[in-house]
Amino acid sequence: MASAISVRDVSKRFSLGKERYDSLKERVIRLGRTSPRELLALRNVSFDVDEGTTLGLLGHNGSGKSTLLKCIAGILQPSAGAIVTRGRLSALLELGAGFHQDLTGRENVELNGLLLGLSRREIAARFDEIIDFAGEQVAAQIDQQVKFYSSGMFVRLGFSVAISVEPDILLVDEVLAVGDEAFQRKCLAKVKEFQQAGKTIVFVTHQADLVRQICDQAVVLDHGQVVCYDAPGVAIRSFRDHLFETGRAHEAPVLGDEEDEPAPGAAPVHPKKTVRIADVKLHHPHDIERRALLPGEPLVIEVRYDSDEALDDLSFAIAFLDGEGRVLYGANTRRFGVRMDVRPGTGTVRWKVASVPLLDGVYQLRFAIQDRSEAVVYDWIDAMEGFEVMQTENVVGTVAFDLAVEHEGALGTTL
Ligand SMILES: Nc1ncnc2c1ncn2[C@@H]1O[C@H](COP(=O)(O)OP(=O)(O)OP(=O)(O)O)[C@@H](O)[C@H]1O
Ligand SMILES: [Mg+2]
Repeated sequence: MASAISVRDVSKRFSLGKERYDSLKERVIRLGRTSPRELLALRNVSFDVDEGTTLGLLGHNGSGKSTLLKCIAGILQPSAGAIVTRGRLSALLELGAGFHQDLTGRENVELNGLLLGLSRREIAARFDEIIDFAGEQVAAQIDQQVKFYSSGMFVRLGFSVAISVEPDILLVDEVLAVGDEAFQRKCLAKVKEFQQAGKTIVFVTHQADLVRQICDQAVVLDHGQVVCYDAPGVAIRSFRDHLFETGRAHEAPVLGDEEDEPAPGAAPVHPKKTVRIADVKLHHPHDIERRALLPGEPLVIEVRYDSDEALDDLSFAIAFLDGEGRVLYGANTRRFGVRMDVRPGTGTVRWKVASVPLLDGVYQLRFAIQDRSEAVVYDWIDAMEGFEVMQTENVVGTVAFDLAVEHEGALGTTL
């Protein structure tokens, strides 16, 4: 099969500008070392995307995904290596990329259409369709400067324009996640329509199940390097292994969802540390032969702590987070009526999940130790190790519903 995109040994270097040393102290601390003024965002990246196939691009934040898409789109010039593309290419890049803030939605559609190679007549003919796909809200504000658009509106209009040119190659950055559920579904339907029409697609996303659903191949980037270029299932596993290795140091010191009011148990930044979480261990019945759990399996989470003093009536908290850091469930020992009197030395709290109600994904754990009133925080951590649930059944989503189905049909007579 012919390649629609061929990426050969591509590296991209960004210069970070001149650094100023403001104080003598800084200069002394540096001992004459120069700090890196360049950043290698892509290193010797090579892969091919066959015509009519869809490639998923996975990688941690800052791994170079957007840079790579921009190089393929020709917006950035690689510092080394070569990229060859065949056919008309259209891209939905980072939020607002290609949009001029001071122009109206209508003017931006026209400008982008021209840049993507449409004639004025073609743009006029497709204008209604573009606005229609972008939705009512965008339509109502099409003659307003786009700087007043919400991020969701940007994405709607951007995606509509990108697909309107009927490209042979479509590049889509993660921005789709910005749109609401309904719009995402609409975009996905469009992506599938493109696939059926034999177009080539490169798709950046953090959603592993989406990669499994729509991609033929996937590339995993880690600090600008390709660490896996394989079938979606293999690539997702590699991506997760890298996430696990890197650890995910969340800075957020609260047990609740960051955007909400601080949840009961929200922790100030400086914990007292006279009682500390020393170690977290996870056990499930099959953890010897496989790391991942299956939905519905039990899980035991063992939290070992060290205490310097005797403290009565503490509260130990746990929270389960999804891959995007959203709290799925949080509770503390008081909720279960377990009295936590600690004495100098070591102790263990064992959380037992009878049946893990989750589907495919990587989940993280957060722990805290507080006093009874939850005003004093002794310690809180985001565990380096999360856990992974691997689903074998043909279902989608996050939560494993305990679902059954029945059918009562008409009692037809046999002919
Ligand atoms: N114009 C630029 N100038 C300097 N550095 C840049 C520039 N664009 C990107 N970088 C750096 O290059 C690296 C890769 O960035 P890039 O945006 O490609 O990552 P990404 O994988 O898309 O991340 P995310 O998941 O957060 O979108 C980062 O360290 C980023 O700071
Ligand atoms: Mg990006």
